[in-house]
Amino acid sequence: MDTVPALVQNEIHPYCQENGVIPFIQELGIVVQGWYPLGGRGHTGELLGDPVISEIAKAHGVSPAQAILRWNLQKGVVVIPGSGNPEHIKENTERKGEHGR
Ligand SMILES: NC(=O)c1ccc[n+]([C@@H]2O[C@H](COP(=O)([O-])OP(=O)(O)OC[C@H]3O[C@@H](n4cnc5c(N)ncnc54)[C@H](OP(=O)(O)O)[C@@H]3O)[C@@H](O)[C@H]2O)c1
Repeated sequence: MDTVPALVQNEIHPYCQENGVIPFIQELGIVVQGWYPLGGRGHTGELLGDPVISEIAKAHGVSPAQAILRWNLQKGVVVIPGSGNPEHIKENTERKGEHGR
């Protein structure tokens, strides 16, 4: 490749995990950014209400949205959730699990 992209955006969330392609892209030195991290507008209910995700979130003392965002970060995926709700925006920037709060 003569010109390597700096960043690739893919749909990435627990129902669209892209486990094969993410490390492939990262190994080329390209940043992976996930879009629709919470399932996309109008489609978040299923993901945020998923019993397995809810159980994981409860075990770590975080919300389902925070568990999903942390899952992305631990895969090295840049994640930018969309929200027009100030409480959600605050929640999405908090890292409760990391500091045991
Ligand atoms: N490159 C591409 O082709 C592509 C395609 C799609 C999207 N994107 C990008 O991906 C980003 C995210 O997309 P998106 O906003 O459509 O989808 P999203 O981040 O998966 O979901 C946004 C939805 O989640 C809700 N939400 C956010 N935080 C929440 C929380 N803590 N608890 C409960 N609900 C929460 C929001 O509702 P509230 O407003 O009520 O919080 C909103 O309805 C955007 O920057 C977008 O431009 C890129």
